[in-house]
This record gives sequence, structure tokens and C-alpha cells, in this order.
Amino acid sequence: MVRFLYSEKQELQIKTLRIIHLDDDVFSASLVQTFLAEEGLVCDIKRVETREDFIVLLEQGGFDLVLADLNLPAMSGMTALVISRERCPGLPFIFVTDTMGEEVAIESLKSGATDYVLKYRLSRLGSAVRSALREAEESEKRRKEEEALRESEQLFRNAFENAVNGRCLTKPDRRFIKVNNSFSEMLGYSAEELATMTFMDLTHPDDLAASRRLAEELLSGRTFAGHLEKRYLHRDGRNVWALTSVFLQRDEKGFPLYFITQIQNITEQKKLEDQLHHAQKLESIGQLAGGMGHDFNNILTTIIGHASILKKKLPDDGALAHHVQQILIASDSASRLTGSLLAFSRKQPIELRELNLNDAVTRVEMMISGLLRNVECIINLADEVLTVMGDEGQLEQVLMNLVTNAWDAMPHGGVLNISTGIAVIDRKFVEVQSFGKPGKYALLTVTDNGIGMDEETRKKIFEPFFTTKESGVGTGLGLSMAYGIVKNHKGFINCDSESGRWTSFRIYLPLTGGTNQ
Ligand SMILES: Nc1ncnc2c1ncn2[C@@H]1O[C@H](COP(=O)(O)OP(=O)(O)O)[C@@H](O)[C@H]1O
Ligand SMILES: [Mg+2]
Repeated sequence: MVRFLYSEKQELQIKTLRIIHLDDDVFSASLVQTFLAEEGLVCDIKRVETREDFIVLLEQGGFDLVLADLNLPAMSGMTALVISRERCPGLPFIFVTDTMGEEVAIESLKSGATDYVLKYRLSRLGSAVRSALREAEESEKRRKEEEALRESEQLFRNAFENAVNGRCLTKPDRRFIKVNNSFSEMLGYSAEELATMTFMDLTHPDDLAASRRLAEELLSGRTFAGHLEKRYLHRDGRNVWALTSVFLQRDEKGFPLYFITQIQNITEQKKLEDQLHHAQKLESIGQLAGGMGHDFNNILTTIIGHASILKKKLPDDGALAHHVQQILIASDSASRLTGSLLAFSRKQPIELRELNLNDAVTRVEMMISGLLRNVECIINLADEVLTVMGDEGQLEQVLMNLVTNAWDAMPHGGVLNISTGIAVIDRKFVEVQSFGKPGKYALLTVTDNGIGMDEETRKKIFEPFFTTKESGVGTGLGLSMAYGIVKNHKGFINCDSESGRWTSFRIYLPLTGGTNQ
């Protein structure tokens, strides 16, 4: 391949110039060669006369220039021009011919000829060739630059459109210019819908202030790029937590053009963090409650012990006996309370033996039947025997607590559903629910269609002393105790609820051995 180099004066220095010369006249061909050589252009010229030979050379490639006579016996120069344009569009093409009328000359230039030189003025050939080559090289350079630009645009477009993270461009007033697929999918709005919205319409009200602050900081130039963990509003109403990175693009004069925002969905991560915090919180409260429960129990044992001695020593019908009896009654309820605390903190002794969960439910059903006025109680027991290692008394206590809460939640009556079954927890379940270990579990579900609870309440229900009930009605220990007992059984308890509609508790207990009929 020939390389053209320009000196500072834009002089062309050529190694060897490869030329196709289309001319039937041997004499004028050698004249052309002489003129070019005199100009200092080293040439390797292939002369052809026919269309076929011309095409063969064009296809062979590697030429820098075509010189062509306008009038050839075998084909017209104009045809050659057309062929050359078609096959090698960038190849300079100069007519070197005896005569050329003005109209033909214009026509040839219009059809893509680079120049024309008349044979009786071959002295012009050198400069014509030089400028043709220069032009060709420049246009090749331009073409390459344009191609590179197109490629890089394509690259950026792909990087934008196919990114796993959501990306968008917004105007300084936060109206959308462009969004990618991930962005649309993450928030549930199509690109067309977003075109009529602003970024702030998608921002959770509690995060609006922080988002505005960040945009202002970028616009004021105080920061160059910013990051924010914030909530977005999905089309279906749920919150989407996303790690948001924003960058402000300005023009050469520093005028803000658009914000480039990238959002990474971290909802799952947030959920896990929340659950972990929650479990850790319950764990530490558990330790505290356990310690206090233990100390209180010791004190109560002393009180009850002494009161019992007093009671024995006093005549049964005396006035003092009544007071002692009151001390004993109060101590008894105090000790039930500390019992709950100990159960929550898993400090309560536990007596495990093989039992059928269905039997425990049946016993509780017998205890409650007739008590739940207005409430229809539907029991669905699994056909299988659900053998778990459990403390019968404690599990019944858990169930009683759930039933009592359901009853409290349906002051105007309703339906209470208790069912048992088998749940297989696989890896996917563990990932989605972010609790549990894979395996086979006995599942106990208690559902009511009572007042339900909001998300804020639901998050706190297992904490000891958390209650929404009037003092005297609730102690806030029922569910903490249930939580502790279930954990002590190597099981899991969770709760789903919809405010004003329903609440459902699910307890998973590991199945031992079999599920024999
Ligand atoms: N089935 C239910 N429906 C609605 N809210 C419930 C239900 N079960 C529990 N709760 C909520 O959980 C809180 C804590 O329950 P719990 O620990 O048993 O304490 P308590 O019943 O003494 O209030 C209740 O005060 C109530 O707000
Ligand atoms: Mg309760």
C-alpha cells in the first residue's frame, strides 16, 4: 500500500504511485508517465484498453488513481467513470483526454470525476494528480473519523440502552429526555409515559428533599457527581430502593445540559438488612428481657415462698389471710409475666418429645370451642401425621396467643382459620423470604379477617411489651413469647397482614422422621 506524506508545505511525497491508465494510445500513455516522472512522482502505471481489463484491475485493488481517456474504441470514458465509482468509490479519477467540451467537463465532474486534464496541457497533470490524491486522502481520513464517531456513538448507545442498571437522561428541570429498558422495567413505566413525567414524580415523598438538595448542589457546581440511596415509587405503588448516582453534563460554556442518572435496585438488599436488624434487635432485647426475667423470678420465688409460709401459719378465715392471698395472686400473675419474658428470651426450660402437631391444634380447639362468640372457627388439619419434636405445653401456649390476638382483632366477629400442612423450604424460598433452612416443615397457619395492621406495626409485633391495646388488655408479650418458643423449636414464625382486612401468622416447625399416614 502506498503511503502519502505531506510536508509542511503540504507537498505530497510518494513512494510509488499505482495508477490505472485507461488509454488505447501507447504514445500518449508514455507521455503521461514522462510528465509525472518529471514532477517527481514515482509511478507504476498499468495501461488497459478494454472494459474487462479495467474491471479486473479495479477488483484486484491497491491502486491510487485512475487516469482515463474520454474516447476509447472499446468503451467510453464516462462508462469507465461509472464503473469506477461503483466499485471503488474513493478512488480518484482524472480524465486525460484530447478534447473535452465544457458541457462534458461539467457532466464528468458531476458524475464524480476528480478532475480533467487536456493532453496538450499535460504540464498541469502533476498538480492535478497531487491535489486529487490529497483530496482522496483527506476524504478517507474524514470517513474514518466519521466511522469512529459512529462506532463510539453506537457503543455508548448500547452501553446506555442495554445496561443492567436503570439509566436516564433528564433536563435540568428533571423532565425525562431518555430512559433505558432497565429503568422502565424497574419502575413499571414505559418510556412514552415517562416522557410526560418528571424525575420527582417517581421519588418517594420522604426522599424528595434529599433529591432536590443533590440536584441543587450539582447545578450550583459545588459537586461534580453525587450518590444517594433513595426510594422510588413503582407504578403499582410499591417502593423501590435504589442506589442513585447522578452526574450533570454541561456544555463548553458550563451551561447545564442534562442530568445523567444511574439507579441500581437495592430493594432486596434493604429488605435483608431490615430483617437482619430486626432479628438482631429482638436478640438483644431478648438478652435484656431474659436477664431481667431471671432476676425477677428469683425475687418472686422469695416473695411467693415467704407468703406461702405466712399463709400456712395464719388461720384461713382471718382478715390477714385475705391479704396474704392477694400477695400470692399478684405474685402468680407476675410470675406468668416473667415466664413469658423467659420464653421470649429462650431461657425457659423446654421439654421436647415427639408429638403430632395436629393433636396440639385439636386440643386447643377443644379449649376454645364455645368461647369465641361471633367468630366462626374453621379448622383444616393435614391428613398426614405431622411429627415434630416439641414441648406440648409451650406450643399450645403459642397457639392460644395467636387465637387470642385473632379474637381481639375481630371485635365485631369474623372468621378464624387454623390449618396445618407440610411446607418444603428450598433454597429459593430461603432467598425470597430471607429466613429458614431448606428442609421439610410442619406448617401451622392462623388467619383472621380482623382489623389487620400496617407495616410499621407489623415490624414491631415480636418485640416484648409492644402492644397497640389499651393498658390492662394487652401486655405486649404474647407474640414475643411465641417468637422465642418457636425459635427454641428451631422453627420460624412470620406474619403477613393487610390493614383493615386480614392477618395471617405462619409457623414452621422442622418435621422429624416421617409423615407416615
Ligand atoms: N391477629 C392480629 N391482628 C391484628 N393485630 C395483631 C394481631 N396479632 C397481633 N397483633 C398486633 O401485635 C401486637 C402485639 O401482640 P402481642 O404480642 O400478642 O401483645 P398484645 O396482644 O398483648 O398486645 C398487638 O397489640 C397488635 O397490635
Ligand atoms: Mg396477645
